[in-house]
Amino acid sequence: MKNYFKKSLKLQLFCIFAFMDKTKPIGVFDSGIGGLSVLKQFIKFLPYEKYIYFGDTARVPYGNKSKQTVEQYARQSTEFLLEKGVKLIVVACNTVSSIALDTIKEISNIPVIGMIEPAVNAALRETNNKRIGIIGTRATISSNAYLDLIKTKTASKDYQVFAKACPLFVPLVEEGLLHHAATELIAKEYLEEFIENKIDTLILACTHYPLLSELIKTILGDVTLIDSGENAAVLAIRLLAEKAALIDDKEEFIRKPKITFYVTDVPTMFYDAAQRFLGFPVDKPNIISIEKI
Ligand code: DGL
Repeated sequence: MKNYFKKSLKLQLFCIFAFMDKTKPIGVFDSGIGGLSVLKQFIKFLPYEKYIYFGDTARVPYGNKSKQTVEQYARQSTEFLLEKGVKLIVVACNTVSSIALDTIKEISNIPVIGMIEPAVNAALRETNNKRIGIIGTRATISSNAYLDLIKTKTASKDYQVFAKACPLFVPLVEEGLLHHAATELIAKEYLEEFIENKIDTLILACTHYPLLSELIKTILGDVTLIDSGENAAVLAIRLLAEKAALIDDKEEFIRKPKITFYVTDVPTMFYDAAQRFLGFPVDKPNIISIEKI
């Protein structure tokens, strides 16, 4: 019994100190560069933090892979960030958040923020007519993770949820065709049913979709778009503040965001696409071979 208390005290102290070290970076990971849209929101809301971004660019996309494969990749990315000594893990990828969040939490001794809960909370706050739409990759939509959480939180049959996989949006955004006629045509085809179903709130459940916000707004009109990254960043402020692990401007003034990039490959479009997601040019990333993660 004595031993048990000793062990549990040790664990508690470990956790407290692990949470309290505010100087450690925040770790953000994604299947590729799309997660930079989430990092952009974190930099906006938590500009004084240091960040480590890991993008599995050699194995992207995850959105049409099996649950087992996504779980295995998620585990490797998490272990990589844990080894780097981050204070918080942000699972920027909605596909990973939908499929492997529990696995990631199980192997992490630090707080983990996924994309689903912050977005669902925001959607439930915003909707007036209780008709919510969700768009994401095939893996995200078929996992039912968003739908299940909405059901759990509302426990009411009043809410109507409409979910749709929009797989072509990812390559269109990566190609930079944000305002192209082809993208508009495809978006109309995907989004038509949300107009028929009279949703008033749409969750953008994919790293790439915030870049299509303008186009989606033009098609859907008066519908509130929920950006997962933005809501996750707001949650991170609260979580880090509660643990006294938030760096504020009085302590450290950083002019340029402090980001260290790791990727598993540097594809030809990397710099252009990364700048599109982040809004400013990225530094040369460190390349990590898949065998080493
Ligand atoms: N990052 C993924 C997501 O948010 C989109 C790209 C992919 O399919 O890997 O679901």
